[in-house]
Amino acid sequence: MSEQPCDSSAPTLFTWEFATDPYPAYAWLRDHAPVHRTTLPSGVDAWLVTRYADAKKALADPRLSKNPQRHSAAAHAKGKVGIPGERSAELMTHLLNIDPPDHTRLRRLVSKAFTPGRVAEFAPRVRTLTDQLIDAFEERGEADLIHEFAFPLPIYAICDLLGVPREDQDDLRDWAGMMIRHGSGPRGGVARAVKRIRGYLAELIHRKRGDLGEDLISGLIRASDHGEHLTENEAAAMCFVLLFAGFETTINLIGNGVYALLRNPEQRAQMQRAVEEGDERLLAAGVEELLRYDGPVEIATWRFATEPLTLAGQRIAEGEPVLVVLAAADRDPERFAAPDVLDLARRDNQHLGYGHGIHYCLGAPLARLEARTAIGTLLRRLPGLRLAADPEDLRWRGGLIMRGLRTLPVTWNSTG
Ligand code: HEM
Repeated sequence: MSEQPCDSSAPTLFTWEFATDPYPAYAWLRDHAPVHRTTLPSGVDAWLVTRYADAKKALADPRLSKNPQRHSAAAHAKGKVGIPGERSAELMTHLLNIDPPDHTRLRRLVSKAFTPGRVAEFAPRVRTLTDQLIDAFEERGEADLIHEFAFPLPIYAICDLLGVPREDQDDLRDWAGMMIRHGSGPRGGVARAVKRIRGYLAELIHRKRGDLGEDLISGLIRASDHGEHLTENEAAAMCFVLLFAGFETTINLIGNGVYALLRNPEQRAQMQRAVEEGDERLLAAGVEELLRYDGPVEIATWRFATEPLTLAGQRIAEGEPVLVVLAAADRDPERFAAPDVLDLARRDNQHLGYGHGIHYCLGAPLARLEARTAIGTLLRRLPGLRLAADPEDLRWRGGLIMRGLRTLPVTWNSTG
């Protein structure tokens, strides 16, 4: 590791207190050590990039690779910090683990099938799913919004979009649940869940090949670029990354977003008015601000230096991991006025919540559709929605990459 000056007043990272509110620690890093070397809970040393301008540069820097196979130190460290399931060789070769030219080819192929048009056509289905989930608890007057709403919505949505038959969707929901529950704990549960998902996807893709339909998996199989198609492994890895990247992120966007609204009554009243008056523009701008203010992806996925480089004056040696802290960049006062204030009508809100550069979130149109529908419908259908727990008692998941609540107990003025 390259050297950095030692500062004994540096905050302690990755504790429970930090997980509850990491923003003061990130403010300190932005001010005192904007490219900061730390030891991750996995024991791996990595550089954290916390200022907006540096973060944006790093996300687009071709000298920072996503492919751990390009460097032995990177491959070793990645084995310890990668997202669950990445140790499965068949699922490794997905968009978040590769560089151009492979990335360019795969992204072009998937973009032919996963188009904004396909997502727009899917809007009525997302509305129906959202309403069905709320129907199940509306009369009860209380619910855990994570387990009963934010968790099932994205998994059913992406399953429908991919073309997973309805009768299999609960299995995928359970396996995906195992992945998140065990994601920051023992690896055995994750490995089992990944094995089942991998087996299921391989079999489904094989079946679809013989009977193509209008769903996204069929679209992925059909997609061709200069006569080239996805291989079976590439198609399975693509489905896996669509499931994985779109699942916990969307749960957390709904969970963190509703929580932020409930803790900021004036902003919530503004959002409520927008929903009641059908002000789609404010609803859309509001969801972007919720992403900036407390987004689901706290730290962008793994990158490492392919050559020695200098970032914000800090020397980084070849092979060293670089983690871009989106949550810190999106609260940088150099970029956002009053960054710690939730302001749903904020203008010029170019946050990094969906990343930046060639790995910019492929699922952003779907995430926006789901979050606007989910948050808008909750506010419309559950009048007087409020927290049913002391914020002090709420627990955040302790993972490195994602930021989200374990539970979100709420209540409302029920007529039931
Ligand atoms: C990439 C955020 C939802 C699919 C990314 C990245 C971020 C992100 C920050 C870039 C990571 C990096 O550069 O290291 C989010 C957020 C979401 C969300 C905040 C929800 C609120 C989704 C959904 C899907 C999806 C619903 C698909 C169904 C992907 C894929 C990539 C990606 C495939 C990799 C793109 C590439 O490497 O070219 N996302 N995402 N995401 N996201 Fe999302």
